[in-house]
Amino acid sequence: MSAENTVELPKTAKKWLLVSRPVGEFKKENFKQVEEPLDSNLADGEIFCRVIYISVDPTLRNWVHENPPYTPRVELGSSMPAYGIAEIIESKMEGYLKGEMVVGFVRFQEYCKLNAQTVMSKVHNRPKFPLHVTLNAFGVTGMTAYWGVLQKGEPKEGQTFLVSGAAGATGMAAGCFAKIKGMRVVGIAGTDSKCEYITQTLGFDAAINYKTQNVNDEIKKLCPKGVDVYYDNVGGKTLDTVLQHINHGARIVVCGAISSGYTETGEESYDGIKNYTNIIFKEASMRGVFYNDHSDHESLTAAAKDIHEWMEAEKFPVLPVSITKGIDSALDCLIGQWKGDNLGKALIEVVPPPAPYHS
Ligand SMILES: NC(=O)c1ccc[n+]([C@@H]2O[C@H](COP(=O)([O-])OP(=O)(O)OC[C@H]3O[C@@H](n4cnc5c(N)ncnc54)[C@H](OP(=O)(O)O)[C@@H]3O)[C@@H](O)[C@H]2O)c1
Repeated sequence: MSAENTVELPKTAKKWLLVSRPVGEFKKENFKQVEEPLDSNLADGEIFCRVIYISVDPTLRNWVHENPPYTPRVELGSSMPAYGIAEIIESKMEGYLKGEMVVGFVRFQEYCKLNAQTVMSKVHNRPKFPLHVTLNAFGVTGMTAYWGVLQKGEPKEGQTFLVSGAAGATGMAAGCFAKIKGMRVVGIAGTDSKCEYITQTLGFDAAINYKTQNVNDEIKKLCPKGVDVYYDNVGGKTLDTVLQHINHGARIVVCGAISSGYTETGEESYDGIKNYTNIIFKEASMRGVFYNDHSDHESLTAAAKDIHEWMEAEKFPVLPVSITKGIDSALDCLIGQWKGDNLGKALIEVVPPPAPYHS
């Protein structure tokens, strides 16, 4: 797309290495920044890229376990893994051209080499929308919310949809899809300004600040007819509270469990759920939704088509992003996500997107 743009390569480039496994939350001392000579030599089947955006996702905490639940082990001393968007500077991969943009496993670094295993897709240029929609509405968070709401949630007009993590990338998208399907949408988020954003700007019907309000009392008040779909991004105590309010035939969509910190796998992972017998008495269902199980070309294309049409028709908004600028500040974004610093998708902008793309 930007084939005429010539990128002058620096002699050195920066990257963040994982040097120790976090105990509990991510800490700065788990990482070390290094600046190394830039090696742009390519083997056949590789592309050399300049990283534009790094996507910061809670599941990165899962990825750095000694024995990660669903990804290969990240060895200490290697660059911190993450996916993101990168511009092809040189290509020895068939079908991938200099100047094109790709989504792939770029890691926390300024430049990367990718191959058929580490490229996820090419970026479609949607000139009307900022480049970051590729990682947001059309990315892992937006697509997971799409399948979670439309397939697992079985949305029904007039019913009540409750979503936690509601001012984050996935939660916002989920709430917007439920609104499109005519549901009453209530969101749970961690600050008053986030609650204001999801109600005033995104049109959710009501919001609960889980840090300052009594979630049980607020659900009673704001979901007077009970909860038909609970889209769960946090797990733990909030899930347990919501289970007391589910209706007969409720659908609980299990998308994430950020309140667990993703610090442990196995038996010690999560707070025990005390109200699970309500799932029996209400004949409710609890179903997981996992991006990786839907990331085949056909499912992605079908979801992207719907989302694109809804965006063009202004039924689905350009969701907000919280951008941290520059590779030097990358850890602020990674650590800040766990403190609730982000409104919408958390991204590191390594360099601004080149024309014709825009932010
Ligand atoms: N199943 C899948 O394939 C899939 C795909 C994408 C994401 N997910 C999951 O979806 C959830 C949201 O991910 P995201 O990428 O959209 O992140 P995000 O919501 O944009 O960012 C995380 C947000 O979670 C909230 N948070 C942090 N610690 C919390 C805690 N202890 N309890 C409750 N909320 C907490 C913070 O907002 P507050 O200010 O509101 O606390 C923070 O801003 C995560 O659990 C993630 O793992 C799953």
